[in-house]
Amino acid sequence: MDKYNIIKVNASHKYNVMVSNGMLHELGGVMSKLFDRCSIAILTDDIVDALYADTVIKSLEANGFHCIKHTIPNGESSKNMDSVLSFINFMASEQITRSDMVLALGGGVIGDMAGFASAIYLRGIKYIQVPTTLLAAVDSSVGGKTAVDISAGKNLIGAFHQPVLVFCDISTLNTLPANIMRDGFAEVIKYGIILDKELYNNLLKKDSALLEQIISRCIEIKRDVVAADEFDKGERQLLNFGHTIGHSIELLSNFTITHGEAVAKGMVIAAKLGKECGYADVVEPIKNIVEMYGFDTYCPYSATEIYKVALSDKKRDKNNITVVLPESIGKCVLHTISTEELYNLLNRIKL
Ligand code: NAD
Ligand code: GLY
Repeated sequence: MDKYNIIKVNASHKYNVMVSNGMLHELGGVMSKLFDRCSIAILTDDIVDALYADTVIKSLEANGFHCIKHTIPNGESSKNMDSVLSFINFMASEQITRSDMVLALGGGVIGDMAGFASAIYLRGIKYIQVPTTLLAAVDSSVGGKTAVDISAGKNLIGAFHQPVLVFCDISTLNTLPANIMRDGFAEVIKYGIILDKELYNNLLKKDSALLEQIISRCIEIKRDVVAADEFDKGERQLLNFGHTIGHSIELLSNFTITHGEAVAKGMVIAAKLGKECGYADVVEPIKNIVEMYGFDTYCPYSATEIYKVALSDKKRDKNNITVVLPESIGKCVLHTISTEELYNLLNRIKL
């Protein structure tokens, strides 16, 4: 069997996502075939640093790359402009130039920050994603959305900046805490519901031997969506399935309900909204699969509470909001309704 499953992304520039199981130590060798020798500014967090930075640096240096590393505390609270500026100052002090590269080693927090820093440093330098969480592997490392949080909200400053390579070794997921792995599965399940019934059926098997195949399939789906709508004007919004309501739940809980848990609840609520709007009734199949992956589907908030927070959704225009509703398992549609209609629908369904 090939060591790598290679998924070609055709966005504003072309790049490969290389998926493997146990090839992190080959990163330097792979990069030496693709890029000129240069300095590589690695951004990572304290947990991932202790687990994987040595392997990455050894492999890169053995292949003639010069590495420098900047480590930040793990967690969403690091995803801010102060951390980006400290990384940028670090790169400047180390004389990183436009012919050098950034490497994001970690989950979505590190990927978003490293991507954003490389979008703005020297008006843009190349970066590589080495995702180490399930969410980062199937979602945030591919597609070029980069961002940081500000006090007014999550991901409110950012840029579209595609990586030049995504190198995903799924064996790094073996050290992930179970709750973080489970959160990633909410996004995996999402891909099955929005665009691929076969993926949904494979997920029902709960077979860990299928993990590499499942991750690769999710990346292919994301690749296709990004190729069709890189700058998020239409079809890419399908990836928000479960997220409009999910974000409201996450915010209302003051982040005590995790992103994955909130998206799982949000997908079930979206299915109920879909049924109410006259699409197929897929509430039970969606509820079943999220429960199978350990999520509970109870919504502790009222329709009015959810509605008020949903109004701050980035995808809302003045009077309308676009929600993603399942037409069937494997097919979702963008459904634009007035905010008043959303309020009425939320009140009609049993959350
Ligand atoms: P994260 O990066 O905070 O990682 C979660 C935790 O897992 C951290 O404590 C980290 O140190 C730890 N960790 C990472 N890899 C590990 C490993 N292999 N073994 C042990 N521990 C490990 O969180 P996340 O869930 O990966 O990403 C969430 C972020 O991604 C959010 O900020 C979100 O906004 C962003 N995101 C971005 C996009 C995009 O398209 N850019 C898409 C989805 C989510
Ligand atoms: N995670 C949503 C997107 O990349 O568009």
